Amino acid sequence: MRTITLEIDEKKVKAEEGMTILQAAKSVGIDIPTLCYHEKLEPYGACRLCMVEITKNKRSRLVTSCCYPVEEGLIVKTDTEKVNKIRKTIIELLLPLAPTGPIMTLGAKYGLCEYIKKTEVEGEWKVKGFRFPTEQNDCTLCGLCVRYCAEIKKENAVGFIGRGVDRHIAILPEKGGICIFCRECYNLCDGGKFPHEAEAF
Ligand code: SF4
Ligand code: FES
Repeated sequence: MRTITLEIDEKKVKAEEGMTILQAAKSVGIDIPTLCYHEKLEPYGACRLCMVEITKNKRSRLVTSCCYPVEEGLIVKTDTEKVNKIRKTIIELLLPLAPTGPIMTLGAKYGLCEYIKKTEVEGEWKVKGFRFPTEQNDCTLCGLCVRYCAEIKKENAVGFIGRGVDRHIAILPEKGGICIFCRECYNLCDGGKFPHEAEAF
C-alpha cells in the first residue's frame, strides 16, 4: 500500500492510500466532529459536520473529510473561520430537532449552549435560544441506524421515508420483532430517536 504524505493543521501526516482525510486526522489525534460517520460503515457524507478546508494547486475549497481521500501534498485545515461557521449553523439547525446530550455537547463547543452544573457529577444543558425553530423529532437523519441495519445486520429493518422536511426514519412493521431482540443500533443514535421509537414494537 502506497504511503501518502499530506499536511493537516500544519502537521505532516503519513497515511495509507485509500484512507480518508478524517481517518488520517484521527490517526494523529486531530479531532474532527462527525455525526453520520462510523468506522464500520461506508462513508455517507450526510451531516456535513466533518467539513474541512483543503488547498490543492493553490485553490481552496470545502470538502467532507469522511468521504474525501488523502492525496499527496494536500493541505488540510480543520479549524478555520469558514469551517467553524458552517459547523455552527449545522448544529443550530439540529439542536431544536434533537436536543440530546451529544448534540448539546457539540452546541456547547460552538457556543450555542450553556452548561449548568447541578452537582459535582451531574449537569443540565440549556440552549441559549433557537434561531431556527423546528419541531423536535429526536432524529438528525444521520442514517447510522439505517445503514448499520443494512450493511452490518443485512436486515433492512429500518429505513427512511418521506422527502425534504418530511423525511424521517421508520421501522418496517413486519421487522419490528427483529429490532426488539437486536437493538445494536441504539447506541449509535445521537438524536435520541432510539430506543424510544423501537420500544413501541
Ligand atoms: S434515528 Fe438516530 S441513528 Fe437513526 S437516523 Fe435518526 S439520529 Fe441517526
Ligand atoms: S461525518 Fe462526514 S458528512 Fe457526516
